[in-house]
Amino acid sequence: MASILVIDDDSSICESLDLYLSEEGYRVRTAMTGTDGLNLFVEESADVVILDLRLPDVDGFSVLEDLQEEDENVKVIMITAYHDMETTITAMKLGAFDYIHKPINVDELDIAVRKALKTVEMEKKIDGFLMEPSRSFKTGDIIGSGPRMREIFKTIGVVSQSRATVLIQGESGTGKELIAKVIHNNTSLNEPYIAVNCSAIVETLLESELFGHEKGSFTGAIARKQGKFELARHGTVFLDEISEMSLNLQAKLLRVLQEREVERVGGKDKVSVNARVIAATNKDLHSLVKQGSFRDDLFYRLNIVSITIPPLRERPEDMAPLIDHLLTKNNIELHKRIGGVSEEVMDMFLNYDWPGNIRELENLLIRAAVVSQGQILGKNDFPELLKDKAETKSLKPADEGRDEDGRFLTLDEVEERHIKRVVRETNLNKGEICQVLGIARPTFERKLEKYGITFERD
Ligand SMILES: Nc1ncnc2c1ncn2[C@@H]1O[C@H](COP(=O)(O)OP(=O)(O)OP(=O)(O)O)[C@@H](O)[C@H]1O
Ligand SMILES: [Mg+2]
Repeated sequence: MASILVIDDDSSICESLDLYLSEEGYRVRTAMTGTDGLNLFVEESADVVILDLRLPDVDGFSVLEDLQEEDENVKVIMITAYHDMETTITAMKLGAFDYIHKPINVDELDIAVRKALKTVEMEKKIDGFLMEPSRSFKTGDIIGSGPRMREIFKTIGVVSQSRATVLIQGESGTGKELIAKVIHNNTSLNEPYIAVNCSAIVETLLESELFGHEKGSFTGAIARKQGKFELARHGTVFLDEISEMSLNLQAKLLRVLQEREVERVGGKDKVSVNARVIAATNKDLHSLVKQGSFRDDLFYRLNIVSITIPPLRERPEDMAPLIDHLLTKNNIELHKRIGGVSEEVMDMFLNYDWPGNIRELENLLIRAAVVSQGQILGKNDFPELLKDKAETKSLKPADEGRDEDGRFLTLDEVEERHIKRVVRETNLNKGEICQVLGIARPTFERKLEKYGITFERD
């Protein structure tokens, strides 16, 4: 019988997980402090440990490390109320098996536990299966809190332990290069990061850019030149807009990736390639393969690990934190003190399509910040969007008390919308939100539950 150890300081979580998992047929033990949990684990190991990141006595990360010290194959599923990328990447890099968040969704937990147990089983069959997790980490500033972004953070954590080739896909401005840099910083910070835009230059030049050339190999080659693959040493070569590479060059790139060596243009010597390759595209590479404009063998070579970034319009939960993040960044650069955007602007943003994604948002905010006189950006600071709105009629006039079809809302519906809005549009913690809403904490908790609102900040 598979055994599971639950370490969480919340007794109701311990009890309900105990009940649920026992019913599923696992042998369950629970502990409410890190020390007790570790003692139980030392007494008798467990196949899976479900571990809260926040414990009263010790930090969950250090419990994770102690558990692994005790049994390097232990599968630890972290639970936490934190959603930011730093914690996720840290947890995954420290070797956590998976990561779920509070409030616990039983299906999500179920999948994680099954996956963990399946891996335990596989490892028993295959020895030496796991990679040694690296213990240092460094993260950039990627905002993202929805399930798809969280998956991406997990993937970043995992690929940072290897040198596997990564293919990043996403519409323009979704943060492909940002993610490439974070992967690079996590893997080989002190080595070069070299970006090459595959669409910017003509084919022959791109070839010599990538692979280098010998003196005199073509007109203009007045000296020997090292290619980007050579220059990147043990770092990263970022191939941006890979879909624009000619079929001829695709074949050459494939050979380099297969053989891990390059031949300079006009040269004979082979130079070995140690750099990790990260490729990015805003096209759907798979359909280009089907059309025949991208080589399928190269596609599979690049697509060892793939990251697909969702467009901004599918990430409404990130709008408020992104605005905060970008305004803070702009304020420093522009010597401004913009505090935020008005409710009207927030509504407008949440209803807009964002074809240029986060870059477009960033540019709009910069332009607005430059011209704005006040500390809160209002809708007149965004003339482009107002124009767009008039043209597309994609936005309905805000009418607080009615739904999209003009029907009057019930009091419950108004309450639900209002709470969701305050949660979404502010960065306040629960206590502060209670003050804003003028209600006590238990009432607030009941309402969150009633309307099924998940709240990630404590
Ligand atoms: N999740 C995010 N959190 C914070 N900033 C972000 C995020 N995603 C993108 N940005 C910012 O948005 C801008 C555009 O990102 P980036 O250049 O990485 O996009 P891209 O996908 O490479 O775009 P393109 O396809 O146009 O080359 C950058 O300034 C980046 O820092
Ligand atoms: Mg880019």
